[in-house]
Amino acid sequence: MQTTPTMEQRATRVAELLMCAPSAYDLVYEINAWMHLSDRPDKQLAWKQWEQLYHTLTEQVGAPVRLIEQASEAPDMVFTANAGLPLPDKQLVLSRFRHPERQVEEPYFDHWFRSQGYTIHLLPPDCAFEGEGDAFLIDGMIVAGYLKRTDICAHRYLSQLTGLPVLSLELVDDRWYHLDTCFLPLGGRLVAYYPEAFDWYARRVIEQHFETIPVSPEEALKFACNAIVFNTAVVMPAGCPILRFHLEERGYTVYEVPMSEFIKSGGACKCLALYLLQE
Ligand code: ARG
Repeated sequence: MQTTPTMEQRATRVAELLMCAPSAYDLVYEINAWMHLSDRPDKQLAWKQWEQLYHTLTEQVGAPVRLIEQASEAPDMVFTANAGLPLPDKQLVLSRFRHPERQVEEPYFDHWFRSQGYTIHLLPPDCAFEGEGDAFLIDGMIVAGYLKRTDICAHRYLSQLTGLPVLSLELVDDRWYHLDTCFLPLGGRLVAYYPEAFDWYARRVIEQHFETIPVSPEEALKFACNAIVFNTAVVMPAGCPILRFHLEERGYTVYEVPMSEFIKSGGACKCLALYLLQE
């Protein structure tokens, strides 16, 4: 007898990625510890780095990439990981950005997902949530960060909506302000993470639930954890040889992409792509 797979069984399959070419990318405000108006990105180089990431994903990794057009008044919209959290059966929990500077992106992402036939779920007002920047579906659970950009009320909402348990992880360092800057799910129960970005209890929760690869402070500062995982391929920011070694040892094929111009805004590979699930 065939049974319908449960949400839990379906929750982790990534089918496509959503990206946004940096046609209006810029640094015109400071909303995280990495952003300095005195050190703005070189737009031409940013474009080159984004294209290299896109071509690595589409041509070398073989990942299907969908594109959304960047709105001219939304310089950070390239960071599509923050659009929301896609759930199985074409559902999306739309982000409610902490900062007004990024709230302008919400209607564009809302519109794109509706046009693709998604059901959109909206969080209660005043409950900040920054999508896949702060939440991952892993093996029948939602693993989510809070404090910096996402409020804990969003975790309760996610758990009520999906019926899945939420592992709530407190982020304690302003440089690792989104979960995806310091926590890298690698499939199954394997993760790489930067322990110092979390409070002691979150570290304990991570160690209890996952097989872990610790990331060094040097490589965490190079956004080592901000990598895209597609099947057994990992596309990561250049210059993190130790994590690369651990991943290759475990059988992953690793690709490195220079990300300097996006790191100036506090993001790298993973921030530039949102995981879309199989229908
Ligand atoms: N400048 C953006 C912000 O501060 C960067 C977002 C990075 N995205 C991410 N998923 N970590 O919101």
